[in-house]
Amino acid sequence: MITNLQDTVTLNNGVKMPGFGLGVYKASMEETVHSVKTALQHGYRHIDTASYYQNEEGVGKAIKESGIPREEIFVTSKVWNEQQGYENTLKAFDESLQKLDLDYLDLYLVHWPVSGKYKDTWRALEKLYTDGKVRAIGVSNFQAYHLEDLLKDAKVKPVINQVEYHPHLTQLEVKEFCEKEDIQLEAWSPLKKGRLLDVPLLVQLAEKYGKTPAQIILRWDVQNNVITIPKSVKEERIVENADIFDFALTDEEMQQINDLNMDDRSGPNPDDF
Ligand SMILES: NC(=O)c1ccc[n+]([C@@H]2O[C@H](COP(=O)([O-])OP(=O)(O)OC[C@H]3O[C@@H](n4cnc5c(N)ncnc54)[C@H](OP(=O)(O)O)[C@@H]3O)[C@@H](O)[C@H]2O)c1
Repeated sequence: MITNLQDTVTLNNGVKMPGFGLGVYKASMEETVHSVKTALQHGYRHIDTASYYQNEEGVGKAIKESGIPREEIFVTSKVWNEQQGYENTLKAFDESLQKLDLDYLDLYLVHWPVSGKYKDTWRALEKLYTDGKVRAIGVSNFQAYHLEDLLKDAKVKPVINQVEYHPHLTQLEVKEFCEKEDIQLEAWSPLKKGRLLDVPLLVQLAEKYGKTPAQIILRWDVQNNVITIPKSVKEERIVENADIFDFALTDEEMQQINDLNMDDRSGPNPDDF
């Protein structure tokens, strides 16, 4: 379990990845530059973007302007659905790198398991990895059966599966499969896009610990060994979200939060891809 904002998780290829990061989905270019710079100033060292978010330039600009050495920051991007397939993915990667104005990525993910395409996409990621253009490769929104299928032909095992994960969607099957295969689970929409903040149990625990419901959820992620990337464009929330390393939920409280699960998604269901 990570014990501070810059603490890392060791992925199955030996690469160390900060276990807590900033998401930038739906942030405009201007918001992205501001939020990434703010997060870096407050000690974040991990940024999660994607070609789909159309703000990779903003991430790159913020990294340059932060003055923090490139190698101290962990940058993730993803290949979007329409960009999948072997040649298209290689091209999409180059475009992302160009927009980010970086010469390598730390992590590149297959954004969704597009049926009939994700294996060719994965071969392209394997090439990018063996060519040294990206330090680690992984997937996103893969169910256990997608992973099983991918692993049949994969030469390189995914290091990460980034899935929607929060107290209303605890992803037991995917989590167990990933743990068994040493594929690190990473939570997207950890706050269910801000829709869990009035859940009575979370409010109660927040009162008990002098924290906010958002902090209780993010602490629950950390104690579950799930990498988490809450998004905010507001400085006070960027600071608040990361201020979770000075308290611990009890085993019973962890279980109570697990029990809030209702298999309820805020985003699409990967079974439909
Ligand atoms: N792989 C995928 O398919 C996928 C899909 C979705 C997201 N993601 C990644 O996961 C990241 C996080 O997910 P997300 O952006 O969908 O949702 P989220 O992090 O669960 O929630 C973000 C929302 O909560 C608000 N918020 C943040 N901190 C808060 C706090 N302390 N108190 C109250 N409200 C707070 C934010 O508003 P403000 O910005 O106004 O503070 C924003 O509206 C994304 O940014 C993206 O990088 C990946």
